[in-house]
Amino acid sequence: MQDLLQKIAAYKSEIDAFTAADDKRVEEFRIKWLGTKGLVKGTMGEMKHVPNEQKREAGQILNEFKQFAEAKFEALKEAHSGTESLSDSMDLSLPGDETPLGSRHPISLMRNRIISIFQRLGFAVAEGPEVEDDWHNFTALNMPEHHPARDMQDTFYVDAGENSAVDWLLRTHTSNTQIREMEKGKLPIRVICPGRVYRNETISARSHCFFHQVEGLYIDEHVSFADLKQTLYFFVKEMYGQDVRVRFRPSYFPFTEPSAEMDVSCFICGGTGCNICKKTGWVEILGCGMIHPNVLQNCGINPEKYTGFAFGMGVERPAMLKYGINDIRLFSENDVRFLKQFTSAT
Ligand code: DAH
Repeated sequence: MQDLLQKIAAYKSEIDAFTAADDKRVEEFRIKWLGTKGLVKGTMGEMKHVPNEQKREAGQILNEFKQFAEAKFEALKEAHSGTESLSDSMDLSLPGDETPLGSRHPISLMRNRIISIFQRLGFAVAEGPEVEDDWHNFTALNMPEHHPARDMQDTFYVDAGENSAVDWLLRTHTSNTQIREMEKGKLPIRVICPGRVYRNETISARSHCFFHQVEGLYIDEHVSFADLKQTLYFFVKEMYGQDVRVRFRPSYFPFTEPSAEMDVSCFICGGTGCNICKKTGWVEILGCGMIHPNVLQNCGINPEKYTGFAFGMGVERPAMLKYGINDIRLFSENDVRFLKQFTSAT
């Protein structure tokens, strides 16, 4: 009996000192003390060695010991409720809940593609305002008042009240950002300027009153037309593949001299002639040229010391060709059935 009492006292202090950091340890406790082969049951079995006259007392002590172990187990369980591992409480074979994924707008996808190619050449991204004054959109770009080139782009003017000292308008091209970058007065400049532009045009499947452009600008000492060509060659090969052919046609823009338009061999038919390239085998993708000395001067840059090139391209048309979209209006209708077809991977 004395042995038994000593043993129980030792067990009790062991139980008392037991701590569990997680539910696995709690289970270990249960098995060790309360399981079918556990120490509580084993100790109970010692009743048979107790002399009859002490059985009553021993029974009470053993019962109390059992309750002590059970109470400890309950306390441990309580402290660790909710710490069981996921796999114990969940049926991992159940199908998951669908998480609806958003998708990027095809214009954003195309714009980001264009930007990332130029970023690899060291171009930084710059943005300018969509509501612009006449100076940044026209005059500084070598299109003074009454210049016929202004008619090339039908403009939405903004009513800024009679007292406004300048004419405000919705920018007709991203070239306004060229001027704003040059006016900052920090050279050299190597930027790419994406943005939305506006023109007063009849809306149809092929043209809209707003669309997107990406402008490029590089100004430093000794920048030449060869640099312009090399930059654009790199862009075209990255964008349309290594096999695509390129041609420059002389053109006219008031803000560049000389000016050119760049065509690529039709990436739909490979140059043999189709409806997209109007049977010519070529698709026009951008306008470009060497920045006109007047434009540099208008922004306080010395044209004797610095030269630069610029280019501007639309975003809608390449996106329509890439994704097989036949109506430009789809881009701005926000029809989810249209929008959800595009993912970042495409
Ligand atoms: N701003 C012209 C347009 O909207 C595009 C353009 C042509 C931009 C030649 C340029 C350039 O920077 O050099 O049609």
